[in-house]
Amino acid sequence: MIPIGNLRRKYLVRKNEFDSAILRVLDSGWFILGKEVEEFEKEFAAYCGKNYGIGVGSGFDALLLALKALEIGDGDEIITVPHTAIPTVAAIIASGAIPKFVDVGEDCLMDVNKIKEVITEKTKAIMPVHLYGQACDMEQILEIANQHNLFIIEDCAQAHGAEYKGKRVPISTLGCFSFYPSKNMGAFGDGGMIVTDSEAISTRLKMLRNYGQATRYHAKMQGYNTRLDELHATILRVQLKYLNEDNEIRKQIALRYNLLLKEIVTIPNVNQNKKHVYHLYVIKTDKRDRLKEKLNELGIGTEIHYPIPLHLQEAYKYLGYKNGDFAQTEKAAKEILSIPIYPELTDTEIETVAQKIKEVMQNMAGP
Ligand SMILES: Cc1ncc(COP(=O)(O)O)c(C=O)c1O
Repeated sequence: MIPIGNLRRKYLVRKNEFDSAILRVLDSGWFILGKEVEEFEKEFAAYCGKNYGIGVGSGFDALLLALKALEIGDGDEIITVPHTAIPTVAAIIASGAIPKFVDVGEDCLMDVNKIKEVITEKTKAIMPVHLYGQACDMEQILEIANQHNLFIIEDCAQAHGAEYKGKRVPISTLGCFSFYPSKNMGAFGDGGMIVTDSEAISTRLKMLRNYGQATRYHAKMQGYNTRLDELHATILRVQLKYLNEDNEIRKQIALRYNLLLKEIVTIPNVNQNKKHVYHLYVIKTDKRDRLKEKLNELGIGTEIHYPIPLHLQEAYKYLGYKNGDFAQTEKAAKEILSIPIYPELTDTEIETVAQKIKEVMQNMAGP
């Protein structure tokens, strides 16, 4: 059995370091908003080339608080994509704003040529999603945002360490990360962070995550309780040390898959301007459902990221979209398949996954 992810292996590979970091926190007797979070915020913000990091409870919370910090809310419109994880859109809706979708391109990233068509006087921000570990075309997005005076909130949940033209995401002044356990950098529980260049936004975010308090028992604004725990921060500090190394291994696995699979299925796009960190390795084939079923029978775990486009989700019917509105998104939802990619995969497992895909595809091509 080769599962789509293996978090136990991730723990065991660096067990001693994780164990001593966890014990250090337990021994300190300090669990919320302490030294570990403070240090990790500094380290991760610096890694992203930003001045401030604000640790929060999840990637969803990071997006929601970013919207709130920018005073985006009721009736405002946010431009994003229908091909993303549910939380991107759930956060927009939780803020009171309305998602306005633009289709993705063949690379499954925001089609920047479609953005201008949906800008109205209510548009406040663009929320590009660096899906699967690959950055969106940020130069064009920045240009449009400047022309129309819009904020940019980058959803970097799948893109720790991803680069656009030699610069790590986020490329604009603000980006939101998730530390969900299976991410390139994951906690052993929920976690998230906003990184930003802006001191003013950072100050607001620190209040928002802690009941709106400016100082203890002094609420300056309405806020939430969404703080990164000391235990998660200490675990994430260990992982940050290895992020570049782990991303490099993911890339080597992707190159191996590319070589083995390029004649068999559609492999992920590679763009010279971008450093892909392969949070997911997503192949495409019009025989996707049968391939998934057969691989499952053969003990190869796969997943579909994502099977139901956001504009067709039951919860979001009220937005008024219908089948046929976003051709590339709907096509992708039928053809994409994520196959195992994580630094702890062995060479034999990589070869086996590719070999099984080849066998199944060849059998399906037969009479
Ligand atoms: C693209 C994207 N945005 C947002 C999130 C939300 O992150 P979390 O699960 O930490 O709330 C995720 C992860 O699930 C994601 O993949």
